[in-house]
Amino acid sequence: MLPPPRLAQLVAIGVSALLVMVAGLVAGLAGRDPVVAEPPPAAAAPVAQPVEPPLRVLAGDRLAIGSAVNVDALADPRYRAVLGREFNAVTAEQAMKWSAVEPAKGRYDRAAADRLIVFAQQHDQRVYGHALVWHKQVPGWVTDTPAETPASRPATGELLRRHVEDEVSYFRGRVWAWDVVNEPLADDGTLRQSIWLRQLGPGYLADAFRWARAADPQARLFLNEYGVEGVNPKSDALYALVRDLRAAGVPIDGVGFQVHWTLDPLPSSFTDNLARFAALGVDVAITELDTRMPVPATPERLRRQAAVYQQAIGACLAVPRCVSFTVWGFTDAYSWVPGAHPGLGAATMFDQNLIPKPAYGAVAGRLRIR
Ligand code: XIL
Repeated sequence: MLPPPRLAQLVAIGVSALLVMVAGLVAGLAGRDPVVAEPPPAAAAPVAQPVEPPLRVLAGDRLAIGSAVNVDALADPRYRAVLGREFNAVTAEQAMKWSAVEPAKGRYDRAAADRLIVFAQQHDQRVYGHALVWHKQVPGWVTDTPAETPASRPATGELLRRHVEDEVSYFRGRVWAWDVVNEPLADDGTLRQSIWLRQLGPGYLADAFRWARAADPQARLFLNEYGVEGVNPKSDALYALVRDLRAAGVPIDGVGFQVHWTLDPLPSSFTDNLARFAALGVDVAITELDTRMPVPATPERLRRQAAVYQQAIGACLAVPRCVSFTVWGFTDAYSWVPGAHPGLGAATMFDQNLIPKPAYGAVAGRLRIR
């Protein structure tokens, strides 16, 4: 039996619905648009404003909707609330990088990564691991010693193998995908002259994927790159690299497209580019989307930004093997952009106060019609 106040509310809603229908009928008969009657005050409380379903609900099973996470920001209840509500995947912005997890040789610090994983488990989110082999955020004890000499090469290869195995094994079963190699190409499409290429030669790429596969056969293994959104010389080189790795039997399951962008539209070839990689038999993913602008944000800039976000989610939805859409931070309150690009910012879907911006509405709107 319903308690009396609830019953009264329902009766009030029913009566007001009837009034709206009658008004519509009368207006229809008179050939006018129906005038929607204001509901009586008693009905106002239970008829809550329709709330936009969160992005993760709109996405359903079609693709993961993720964000990079600043683990320190998990102390902010507003941040936790939006992260848990909107996203079903998380990427550690820092917490799983080599410099974070092993700041001194053999001294592991995985506390921040573990906190993120607990949050993800509590909120039914997948964890995207980032990043095993990269030329940045490598701890000093790796880059400084041993000196880069031919004699040091076996030692460097051994350090890298141990790092990949340690990290993937530690997180086994809790990470659904790894960026195994991050940013291996130079802007001209040649292999980047990183410590790994210099010391180990191009074979380090295949080795890294093989070590990761052996350490966690269930994890999806990605190669992640920037500047490869459109069909261009760098993405052509990446395409050839992935094709050759696959042909050699290297266990690479996916290619991540970072998409750190500006207010200009994405290249019109973005969808076709994603599709050609997918045709190689790999998944594709948008892994680090943000769209920086000169600050302060203006309505016009926010509109252009929304168009970029909409274009990005649209490209991903158009390619069946695009398995996830991840933003590099979801709020301007904790975005890396102002630090990395002085004078620019406001690059995410939620403002400093965690209020959704037009970019959020654009992504939600595109997901709604998927
Ligand atoms: C960035 C973080 O967002 C910053 O906080 C950090 O200081 C540097 O790294 N490509 C990547 C990410 O793959 O790991 C980078 O993240 C952004 C560019």
